[in-house]
Amino acid sequence: MAVDDSACDYSLLTKFLSHVAFKPFPYPTAPIPMPDTSNHVAFGKYLVSNSGCFACHSADFTKLDELHPERSEGFMGGGNTLIDINGEAVFTPNLTPDVETGIGKWTESQFITAVKEGFRSDGTLVRAPMPLWRDFTDQEAAAIYAYLRTVPVIRKPWIKTRAPHTYSSEGERLFKQYGCNSCHGNAGRGYVTFDAVDAKFPNDSLLEIKIRNPFAFEPESRMPLWQGMIREQDYQPLIAHIRTLSKQH
Ligand code: HEC
Ligand code: HEC
Repeated sequence: MAVDDSACDYSLLTKFLSHVAFKPFPYPTAPIPMPDTSNHVAFGKYLVSNSGCFACHSADFTKLDELHPERSEGFMGGGNTLIDINGEAVFTPNLTPDVETGIGKWTESQFITAVKEGFRSDGTLVRAPMPLWRDFTDQEAAAIYAYLRTVPVIRKPWIKTRAPHTYSSEGERLFKQYGCNSCHGNAGRGYVTFDAVDAKFPNDSLLEIKIRNPFAFEPESRMPLWQGMIREQDYQPLIAHIRTLSKQH
C-alpha cells in the first residue's frame, strides 16, 4: 500500500516553534565554535545553547540571554509559558539537578529515553510542544545530561496546568490520557490531520500497526513508538475514536 506522508515532511520543529511565543534569535555575529565532542560537558553545553533547550526550559522568553545562555533568568529551572496546540497554557519543567523539583534523581538512560523517545520512566508521554529529539545520538543526549548535572540547582516545582480531560467516549478518554492530543489536537487536526486515515488504513489491523509502530509505514516518523506503552485493550477504543475524528471534517 502506498502511503503518502509528504505533507508531514515539513519541519516539525518549525511547526512546534510557531506555536510558541518566540522572539527570533539574533544571529550571532561570530561563528559559534564547535566544542571538542569528546569533552562531554562542553559538548552538552553547546547542544543546550543551540538546540533551544535553554530557551524553553528557563524562566521567561523575554529574559533570555542568547549570547550567554547560562545568564538567562532561571536558567534551565523551567517555568516558561508555552501554548500547546489545543490553546492550553503549559509551563516547562525544571531540568536542573534538584532532587525534589528537577531531574536530580533521573538516570542517564531515563533522560536519553525521555528526550529521544518521548517517554518518562513511569511510562507517561513527554508531551508536545516538547519536541521529540529522535535525531540526537545517544552520545549527544548523554552529553546534555552530563552538562545539566553541572548547572546551578534551582528549587522550583513544575506547575502542571493541563486542563481536566472532558470526554464522551472511552476512546476519547484514552486519546487524551496517553497524550495523542498533544500532537494531533483534541479534534485530530494538529501537526498532522486524520483526514486521510480511512483511505490510508482501510482496515483496523493496518491502523493498529501504524499506532504500534509508526516506522512500519514512515521510517522518518516523529510519532512515538507506542508498542509496549499502550495497554492491549486500549487499541480498539483508540482506533474507533480516530475513525470518528477522521469523519468529522
Ligand atoms: C518548544 C519548547 C521546548 C524545547 C525547545 C525543549 N523542551 Fe523539553 N519540554 C518542553 C515542555 C513543554 C515539556 C513538558 C512536557 C509535558 O507537559 O509532558 C518538556 C519536558 C522535557 C523533559 C521531561 C522533564 C520532566 O520533568 O518530565 C525533558 C527531560 C526535556 N524536556 C528535555 C529537553 C531538552 C534536553 C531539550 C533540548 C534538546 C528540550 N527539552 C527542549 C518544552 C521544550
Ligand atoms: C509527538 C507527537 C505525536 C504524538 C504524541 C502522537 N502522534 Fe500520531 N503522528 C505524529 C506524526 C508526526 C505523524 C505523521 C508521521 C507518521 O505518519 O508517522 C503521526 C501519524 C499518526 C497516524 C497516521 C495518520 C495518517 O493519516 O497517516 C495515526 C493514526 C496516529 N498518528 C495516531 C496516534 C495515536 C493513537 C497517538 C496516541 C496514542 C499518537 N498518534 C500520538 C505525531 C504524534
